Amino acid sequence: MTQQRRVRKAVFPVAGLGTRFLPATKAIPKEMLTVVDKPVIQYVVDEARAAGIEHFIFVTGRNKAVIEDHFDIQVELYDTLRKRGKLDELGNLQAMQPKPGQTSFTRQQEPLGLGHAVWCARELVGDEPFALLLPDMVMQHDKGCLTGMVEQYHKVGGNVISVEEVPEEETHRYGVVGVGEDISEDGFRINAMVEKPPMGTAPSNYFINGRYILQPEIFSILETQETGAGNEIQITDAMLKLAEKQDFSGYRFRGNTFDCGSKEGFIRANVSFALKRDDIRVKVEDDLRRMLDTLL
Ligand code: G1P
Repeated sequence: MTQQRRVRKAVFPVAGLGTRFLPATKAIPKEMLTVVDKPVIQYVVDEARAAGIEHFIFVTGRNKAVIEDHFDIQVELYDTLRKRGKLDELGNLQAMQPKPGQTSFTRQQEPLGLGHAVWCARELVGDEPFALLLPDMVMQHDKGCLTGMVEQYHKVGGNVISVEEVPEEETHRYGVVGVGEDISEDGFRINAMVEKPPMGTAPSNYFINGRYILQPEIFSILETQETGAGNEIQITDAMLKLAEKQDFSGYRFRGNTFDCGSKEGFIRANVSFALKRDDIRVKVEDDLRRMLDTLL
């Protein structure tokens, strides 16, 4: 078996305006909205780190500087926590802290689509495979979605796309893949890809859930990629072209995914992560039951 090049870098497109969450996102990036007590972007960066990622590349836009601050050291805060003996809090902050030189930030100057945002990271990624994580999608899983994908990548190489099933009537909202032969319990060959297929035309009900491992050849395709669905430059269209030359496998993710770009998904994420927390679970569960009893 040929040795695959390691996936060391991850790209996080965080340039979106977050208009669905106004007024909350007037002065705060949507990626900084909190699920329990961590910003959405932190869940996704933690997932990447757990999968072995060593370099975190953020494609940002105007009004996103606070994301950079969040991943920087806060000397005064760390000192105060130390002086007050709040060592658990300090330890938690230090554990999430990327090391010097592990983060890079570049701007997507115009909102031309996800494919364009990824292309903006080309110089920072260089000539090596990379992970792409869409921060709207927050995953809850013991192993971590990207960790499972990296394992599959080391077995089969090529490009790996994480997918999940959705009801057929929702496929038009996503990128959807066609399902070929199985290559493992969780993996299969992808034989079609389409971004936001019109109702009734999707090749399957497996949608792309926002996690990708891609080869660097995607960048030269993106360079000339024309606009597609929604009049935007789509990563799915570029992947379809790359699939003429390279293998694409699907990874069936078997955890919970919350679309934190939608209000319902964001609230579900908060409830679900709160119910997994030992410190607040019992109280939250009681409160939820009581609220539902009084409402229904
Ligand atoms: C993007 C991708 C799409 C994917 C989705 C997951 O779409 O283009 O293929 O299924 O994320 O959230 P967007 O949500 O930006 O419209």
